[in-house]
Amino acid sequence: MATVRTSIHGYWSSRFAFVLAASGSAIGLGNIWKFPYMAGENGGGAFVLLYLVCVALFGAPVMMAEILLGRRGRSSPMNTMRVLAAEEKCSSSWDLLGLMGVLAGFLILSYYSVIAGWALDYVVEIGSGSFVNVTRDEAGEVFTNLISSPRRLLFWHTLFMVLTMVVVARGVSKGLETAVRLLMPALLFLVLVMIAYAMVKGDFYAGLKFLFTPDFSKLSPGVVLKAMGQAFFSLSLGMGAIMMYGSYLPRDASIATTSFQVAIVDTVVAVLAGLAIFPIVFANGLEAGQGPGLIFNTLPLAFGQMMGGVFFGAIFFVLLVFAAWTSAISLIEPAVAWLIEKFSISRLWSSLICGGIAWVIGLGTVFSFNNWKRIELFNDTFLAGKSFFDLLEYTTSNIMLPLGGVLICIFAAWFMREPSRRDELQIAHEGAYRVWRFLARYITPLGVILIFLHAIGILEKLHIT
Ligand code: PHE
Repeated sequence: MATVRTSIHGYWSSRFAFVLAASGSAIGLGNIWKFPYMAGENGGGAFVLLYLVCVALFGAPVMMAEILLGRRGRSSPMNTMRVLAAEEKCSSSWDLLGLMGVLAGFLILSYYSVIAGWALDYVVEIGSGSFVNVTRDEAGEVFTNLISSPRRLLFWHTLFMVLTMVVVARGVSKGLETAVRLLMPALLFLVLVMIAYAMVKGDFYAGLKFLFTPDFSKLSPGVVLKAMGQAFFSLSLGMGAIMMYGSYLPRDASIATTSFQVAIVDTVVAVLAGLAIFPIVFANGLEAGQGPGLIFNTLPLAFGQMMGGVFFGAIFFVLLVFAAWTSAISLIEPAVAWLIEKFSISRLWSSLICGGIAWVIGLGTVFSFNNWKRIELFNDTFLAGKSFFDLLEYTTSNIMLPLGGVLICIFAAWFMREPSRRDELQIAHEGAYRVWRFLARYITPLGVILIFLHAIGILEKLHIT
């Protein structure tokens, strides 16, 4: 039975437009900021390898499942889940999955906007020549000054949130396609310029070795969990962003091809970012495991030394802001679209409300780097020493997104009826369809659950590992 549902929010002009938009969502701070610092903190090669395995085993099947549900439901994830659950005669509690996605979107956007604010600040900082021929310590000082000033962080956080809501208020498909089409290749080009610089001036060999020689002694259940969380985060999976974009996808577009393209492009950009950063880290004796400040302490050193660095550096951070922008839009779109559907309010109002909520939660992150570095409340627990930002980042990427992704897979591969699934996926090759169904039915759910249990230590207690 072919569905005749239509989207009230519009459609992409072509399959390619969807690939661009989904890549715009996927490629963002996750690739350029988070992937390198996570790899740096968690031992390099072994983390990278696990990350790649997670992208292949979990990322690709979940992405297909998300697009499949989105296109069939043709509305915001919350309503898509409600409509599909009714159609497939399942419990109405499935819309809680949509709700968890909306919540994850708010929480992630709240800190995402603060970090994108750092990038905005760096456009000005680099553009005004602050980093020309600086030493490692001087560059570090610029960063410390930024994050210790709540006022500056608040200013940039507010500006980024306003920029995001302006686009969301105008409707997602307008403008986004063109922006992604031009700006993503430009960002990729600059990453390649940085790699060329890293090859000549950085310790390229040390960088390669760090990223690609797995040292399995560095692995722990916690690291495995983080590699998995990073795969979901970087591919924008598990909270409905891709489901939302899938709901604007024309019916004749192949879901499988599209998913592979997005997953591959996203992974390539992350690995290239690592290749640009680590040679500079090692050549300058920087700490690979220093955490979220990594690229902000590393790249400016390179831009400070290279010819035309002021120009390239400023452009690089402008493009990073754009990449973050296209991701931020997709983080909040499920919530915005749901409010419009539910209360029939205008897009403008819906965007204002959602942006406002995310902005307020973002204040917690603004202060996480200065006044409230550690939450005292949790001093006696395993959360000791964590800030509000650490907690948000940890719970959203490592728990909420994988959990959401698994439930999406379970719905698509177990609860949906076989004819509906086949009708929507339209995979001509029977073998390929079966591989997807097998991964989505067994491998992804079991894999993610085992990683969860391992991380909580239950498997050890049962003497299973
Ligand atoms: N994938 C985005 C990035 O890598 C972040 C994101 C996560 C966007 C989840 C949407 C949903 O920066």
